[in-house]
Amino acid sequence: MKILIIGGGNMGLTYAQSFLRSHICTPENMMILEKSEEKAAQLAQKNIGTVYGHAEECLDGADLIILAVKPQDAPTLFSSLKPLVDPQQVFLSIMAGVKIQSIQEGLEVSKIARAMPNLPAQIGRGMTVFTSSDQITRIELVMVQNLLSTTGKAIYAESEDAIDAATAISGSGPAYVWYFMNALMQSAQDMGFNYSESELLVSQTILGAMELYAASDFSCEEWIQKVASRGGTTEAALAAFEQNKLFGSIIGGAQAALERAVELGKT
Ligand SMILES: NC(=O)c1ccc[n+]([C@@H]2O[C@H](COP(=O)([O-])OP(=O)(O)OC[C@H]3O[C@@H](n4cnc5c(N)ncnc54)[C@H](OP(=O)(O)O)[C@@H]3O)[C@@H](O)[C@H]2O)c1
Repeated sequence: MKILIIGGGNMGLTYAQSFLRSHICTPENMMILEKSEEKAAQLAQKNIGTVYGHAEECLDGADLIILAVKPQDAPTLFSSLKPLVDPQQVFLSIMAGVKIQSIQEGLEVSKIARAMPNLPAQIGRGMTVFTSSDQITRIELVMVQNLLSTTGKAIYAESEDAIDAATAISGSGPAYVWYFMNALMQSAQDMGFNYSESELLVSQTILGAMELYAASDFSCEEWIQKVASRGGTTEAALAAFEQNKLFGSIIGGAQAALERAVELGKT
């Protein structure tokens, strides 16, 4: 199977490297189409596949085409690809907010998968939610899932609406964690730790809590109860969080992200 990645930026490169690292593809079967000459020259040094500057040179030979350009570049890309595509080719788009229907209309193709990855994909710890048009076969869907799984976990959603929800939870989610982390690091420094000590305290605490959670069957509430003894320090912190409506605030933030994702999808 020949894979063509269109857009050799952050995500395009992440996918190329993940496919090669997991031996799902060889450099001989990988093509990258990158319009920036400077980036194309850098990619060509990496031995991750053949790098092209024009769609006419590579589209023909591709079985699966990954669309990894910025959403605002989609209309120009579609008009350049449209005369070259074959209806049997499978397209996997990771462009935020670009609907399956827009891709079908823009390219006049029907076999489309649409995915929402997140940044930890860069280190194989990503979370991706994907969906597809009805015209994709089961075998093609398994192929897409296998590719996405090289960057972490990937789950299939029946409805395209789940992509907006995934954008609000797992897409933006790493930033929510870093926001919390930053606040806790600031507290640590206010209490006398230097920056690198506060970084270690907070990152190791989050990592430990996550790994403990993953290693057990307890819910978040059950784990909280294990740490928070009556009248103790954790209970004091949790009471302050509640007083400041932090729990509801986080839900409100995720909801705002969802509304924005839906809004962007309409433009
Ligand atoms: N980064 C994330 O965590 C993340 C998460 C989920 C989804 N996404 C989606 O992933 C997509 C790519 O994001 P990114 O961060 O990788 O962007 P990026 O670093 O800007 O990479 C996109 C690359 O595509 C090139 N390009 C634009 N139009 C092209 C064309 N017609 N033919 C060939 N190459 C073209 C751009 O070149 P120029 O620089 O010259 O324009 C750029 O090098 C976006 O649609 C984004 O919504 C990203």
